[in-house]
Amino acid sequence: MDRPAVTEWTVDHLDELAHDPVMADALGRAELGLVRLPHGTGEAWLAGKYADVTRSTSDARFSRAALLHRDVTRLAPNPIPLHDAVGFADPPEHGRLRRSASRAFTQRRIDRLRPRSIELANRLLDRMERDGAPADLVAALYAPFAMHGMSELMGIPEEDRERVVQWAGRIITSAQPPEASERAKREIEAYFGRLADRRLAEPRDDLLSHLLEGERAGELTREELVAFAVLMQTSGMTAVRRNSSSMAYALLTRPDLWQRLVAEPALLPQAVEELLRWVPHRNAVGQARIATEDVELGGVLVRAGEAVYSSYVAANRDPAVFERPDELDFDRQPNPHLAFGYGPHYCVGAAFARMETQVMLGVLTERFPRLRLAVPREQVPWQRGELIRGPRELPVAW
Ligand code: HEM
Repeated sequence: MDRPAVTEWTVDHLDELAHDPVMADALGRAELGLVRLPHGTGEAWLAGKYADVTRSTSDARFSRAALLHRDVTRLAPNPIPLHDAVGFADPPEHGRLRRSASRAFTQRRIDRLRPRSIELANRLLDRMERDGAPADLVAALYAPFAMHGMSELMGIPEEDRERVVQWAGRIITSAQPPEASERAKREIEAYFGRLADRRLAEPRDDLLSHLLEGERAGELTREELVAFAVLMQTSGMTAVRRNSSSMAYALLTRPDLWQRLVAEPALLPQAVEELLRWVPHRNAVGQARIATEDVELGGVLVRAGEAVYSSYVAANRDPAVFERPDELDFDRQPNPHLAFGYGPHYCVGAAFARMETQVMLGVLTERFPRLRLAVPREQVPWQRGELIRGPRELPVAW
């Protein structure tokens, strides 16, 4: 088999929620292609088709652990944005690390959090209403909701939350020099270490206390616990804020869909699944996997030691699985999207993120049925040079 030419994936800024042409190419071509990203060395295979993505993310011959200490071509300047033990472990080690968090994310616990989340969304929207139009929906609702929601789940005291947001902002980015991210990483880890000591003395019904139970049961070490808690806090907060802001933009620029949600609130869970599928959550790709032996994938032979990226964003637009994939269709059923990933690394916070997303959109459509963008769509400012996409501000009126 001939090796294909390498595509330079420069990851230029994409307009609003435009689909990345490199991902579209990965879906259109017969076989896997090779890409080179802005940082790191060498090249990597890019899997974009649904079948190749689900296979490469669930086949044990593609390893995350083998990625450690490798300088694989990548988007972020920093090889590992956080001390991400869970992201870089393979089963069965991986299952051990996740067990204690899984206990905290049972559907029953998430359902119990829903009324508090509704209350929080209402409180934030009360303030937005009082201050009057126009308002920035990111600052008024999405940023504080994602921050307080995740912090309450984790058990972060109110007065520390702003600091945590600042650290997270310096870590989850490809726009900062590595030293700035490194410093933020050390500071936030030290903070979580101190908080864990306090919770150990005084356990509560929060995620940190659940993780500490796991530590007591010998499931994870203190170092692993801190790394995992920091990872969940920072990635959870950022992912929900940006993803939901993108969803709101998609709806406000398609008033027929917004009106449909207002008129048919029972459609909400299904609409959220379709929005999750459709929103291009991140720029380029997250962490690669390394083939531990020669494996055939997507019509090519991936050699032992080579890196493979799997794009969930691309797979969510695969016409082999989703009819008219570029269309936002609230009646789409079934909808086996991969917005939360696939295989053992499937998003640990998926049920929580889904609940939060439903709550924010539900409360917003109920209270502001006439919500609209307060500026022409071209004037909405977008995140640039970031790992996770989304509008920076969303000026609205009602
Ligand atoms: C709409 C919001 C969210 C989206 C779209 C999302 C998406 C994803 C995706 C695609 C992955 C899989 C990456 C892979 O294959 O390595 C992932 C993993 C992960 N997510 Fe989320 N996520 C969201 C919210 C959250 C929240 C709220 C939390 C924390 C509570 C969270 C914590 C994590 C963690 C810790 C992992 C790594 C899991 C592992 O490697 O085993 N995410 N997420």
